[in-house]
Amino acid sequence: MNIMGQPWKMGTLKIKNRLVRSATGEGLSNEDGTPTQRLIDISVELARGGVGLIIAGTAYISREGRGDKNTTGIDNNRLIEPLSRLCRAVHTAGGTLAVQLLHCGSTLNPAILPEKEVLFGPSAMIDPVCGHPVVELSKDHILRIVDDYANAALRAKEAGFRAVQLHAAHGYLINQFLSPSRNRRNDQYGGPLKHRALLLYQVYEAVRGAVGKEFPIFIKMSAYDGFPGGVKPKEAAQVASTLDVMGIDAIEVSAGTPEGAKKGGWDHIIPAPFKEGSLLKYALQIKEKVNCPVISVEGWRNPLEITKALEKIDAVSMSRPFIREPNLVNRWLGGDLSPARCISCNECLDLIMESGLGCVFHNRNKDGNS
Ligand SMILES: Cc1cc2nc3c(=O)[nH]c(=O)nc-3n(C[C@H](O)[C@H](O)[C@H](O)COP(=O)(O)O)c2cc1C
Repeated sequence: MNIMGQPWKMGTLKIKNRLVRSATGEGLSNEDGTPTQRLIDISVELARGGVGLIIAGTAYISREGRGDKNTTGIDNNRLIEPLSRLCRAVHTAGGTLAVQLLHCGSTLNPAILPEKEVLFGPSAMIDPVCGHPVVELSKDHILRIVDDYANAALRAKEAGFRAVQLHAAHGYLINQFLSPSRNRRNDQYGGPLKHRALLLYQVYEAVRGAVGKEFPIFIKMSAYDGFPGGVKPKEAAQVASTLDVMGIDAIEVSAGTPEGAKKGGWDHIIPAPFKEGSLLKYALQIKEKVNCPVISVEGWRNPLEITKALEKIDAVSMSRPFIREPNLVNRWLGGDLSPARCISCNECLDLIMESGLGCVFHNRNKDGNS
């Protein structure tokens, strides 16, 4: 059997193959955070397409932490039942569904600004991306956010998700605390790395306390922020190593922030055009420091390259290729090893804001042929 089709384990969770759908904000939930039937249908299509582990797009842990319109909510017990319908549908179709928990901090879609009374972050400043004032979080407020993560994780477990992923990448709140340029605090949450990482460690501990030892908790983290004064790969590896000792079940290694993209002159933090497995090097640096499984995300398109990478890394995750070809895993595991048809044009990033997740090519032709 091709190594892509081999099962692996994330903590107690057995995953049937090593191809993961990385979290992909679908923009397909209602304003109140409940998933629409279209979101359920898209998720079921991925499950039928053979994806080993599907990580649903971000779910906000509190209304204050909501970063975009039509994002899924997990901030209230009334959402458990609607979310359980999503979980049941995916699991009945043979998939395994995890959810990604998020407080966006001050990194958000500007379209949502009118609903925000205040933007919060580690330190008071003008947000370098959206240009709005950011208010420094008080210690009490930080502890409330830690509780919000724990309560959201418990809801995820009750709804039937098989794992929770903490979103600590891409310039959102936890990532902002890690970044020296965003976190200028003088208390126990600022200064040396172990202080800047304290929020993340507290969130992990609180979530673990809520869901118990057996329930898988994993993390998506940035190996680097991509701007001067941001997190560097060595620091990211140190944080990963501490989380590993604390008991995290897997680490997905991404990179970049909207601030880094803006300063680099790019439209999006996700590169277009891409390089095959562009962040593998960083995932391997982290893999050296930890015992838990490591997942490499970004730029995986060629199954022959993925097959080689899987000799060194536990799993690879993809986002854009699955938007165009939900059946990609079945295609590859069925022996058609031509590369993913995704051309990384990033049109999908604009579509989620306009009409919800889609691919301009997939929408034209369901076979994915343009
Ligand atoms: C439409 C779209 C939505 C995304 N939403 C999320 C998200 O909710 N959470 C997240 O961590 N990453 C998100 N990402 C980033 C992907 O998970 C992934 O890290 C990135 O697209 C690189 O992988 P790829 O080259 O396979 O697309 C999104 C990407 C796209 C294209």
